[in-house]
Amino acid sequence: MKKQYSYIRTGILGLLLSTQAIYAQNTVTFRTDAPAQTINRNIYGHFAEHLGHCIYGGFYVGDTSAIPNTNGVRKDVIAALRKMKIPNLRWPGGCFADTYHWKDGIGPKEKRPTIVNTWWGNVTENNSFGTHDFLNMCEELGAEPYLSGNVGSGMVQELADWVQYANFGGKSPMSDLRQQNGRKEPWKVRFWGVGNEAWGCGGNMRPEYYADLYRKFATFMHADWKNDHIFRIASGANSSDYNWTEVLMKNIPRHMLEGIALHHYSFVDWDKKGDAVDFTEQQYFLTMKTALFMDTLIRKHTAIMDKYDPEKKVALVVDEWGGWYNVEGGTNPGFLFQQNTMRDAMIAGATLNIFNNHADRVRMANLAQAINVLQSVILTKDDKMVLTPTYYVMEMYNVHQDATLIPVDIHSNDYTLGNETLPAVSVSASKDNNGVTHISLVNIDANKTQEITLDTKSQTYKTLSGRLLISAKLQDYNSFAQPEKIKPVAFKGATLKNNTINVKLPPFSVVVLELK
Ligand code: AHR
Repeated sequence: MKKQYSYIRTGILGLLLSTQAIYAQNTVTFRTDAPAQTINRNIYGHFAEHLGHCIYGGFYVGDTSAIPNTNGVRKDVIAALRKMKIPNLRWPGGCFADTYHWKDGIGPKEKRPTIVNTWWGNVTENNSFGTHDFLNMCEELGAEPYLSGNVGSGMVQELADWVQYANFGGKSPMSDLRQQNGRKEPWKVRFWGVGNEAWGCGGNMRPEYYADLYRKFATFMHADWKNDHIFRIASGANSSDYNWTEVLMKNIPRHMLEGIALHHYSFVDWDKKGDAVDFTEQQYFLTMKTALFMDTLIRKHTAIMDKYDPEKKVALVVDEWGGWYNVEGGTNPGFLFQQNTMRDAMIAGATLNIFNNHADRVRMANLAQAINVLQSVILTKDDKMVLTPTYYVMEMYNVHQDATLIPVDIHSNDYTLGNETLPAVSVSASKDNNGVTHISLVNIDANKTQEITLDTKSQTYKTLSGRLLISAKLQDYNSFAQPEKIKPVAFKGATLKNNTINVKLPPFSVVVLELK
């Protein structure tokens, strides 16, 4: 992203104006020279780990619950996620995945062994939400499942059996077992993670060792189980560990690798994360700095991938991202529950714009996590449900799913705090299958309205409408007492004349424009 920082200070005029900075207008220009590129809907994916109340109490309440449910999954949650157009869901972890043995979660629920969740609060769970529950729930949601396999503490045979159990339509020991457990047709799961954070909770491995292990596991997850479309995702780098990507790209043959992951969280300071709601502008600024760093990360990991895969066959899968703060006071520290404010809406809007603009390499991503954990789209408490500001950003942006990216050149004013600056404005644009153009704009500046002139070049439009997500304070959030404090409203701050759009984007707001 280019920034234009213009002080006009020339000659006499400069002297007259010496105390007053004149900021250039923000400009956005549609590029007409770039190749057509689809924004993969899977960029808008989510993540559900056995962690705190993400699964139990979040998605799943059990079929004997008084809370309305479909096979134990909350009906309110299903309706909200369908409306948001959730394209895929990653499960069962995260760190939990490398402790999970999938055979413990199938068959009669009363006979399933328990598991102690050693990563997250040391709670004992009864495995009542397992493979069938998850994959059937994904069908109900209209989302593609993304299963994260156990490499850290699991065996090759165990993961190969899971692929066979989920995907094989013929007669085999695992498909027989699946049928005994009530599911005749295979689910045909496409997305498979080969371990998670292998550099950390997934086994503390070195990249060379993991690359070899990946080759071994992936060999037995191949298409012999009649799934032509299996998409294997290697456990990827922790943020700026570029060497991890380099070693994996170098050592794993292309025909064994469909995606490589990347994890990057946004925070004030990893050791002093601060409160999710009660934060200063300085803490907000630092959080946005780490969020916008996603653009640099994608560029640098992509440059490494391009060396080994210039045709961009291997996808960069950002399968964990989002804001991470201190857990809410009085809640289990291992459950990672945090509220979700307009700061999170800024992270979501700006990050999704980054992903859209890198749609050639970033073809899948998963916000961490869907319900009651970290940057959630949904919070639940008993029978109540709250949709967070992040939910509304995801819902507003779903117009980009599977649309054609319109690349843009952006010249943004700075958002300045102390001696530091960040680009205030972020933008992405796309044209959908019906020929409708959508432009998503974010102003992260905590104080100033940004005026933007947008040149659509040869594209002309007759009508313009928009939706705006805004609130009085950055620290505002939707609570169980006030669930609808923040929700999108009609946006009246844009005008269209020929092929120029003028937008007045209020401080810390997200807007999606629709042009026909
Ligand atoms: O999302 C929470 C945790 O963060 C995940 O379990 C792990 O993969 C990451 O470190």
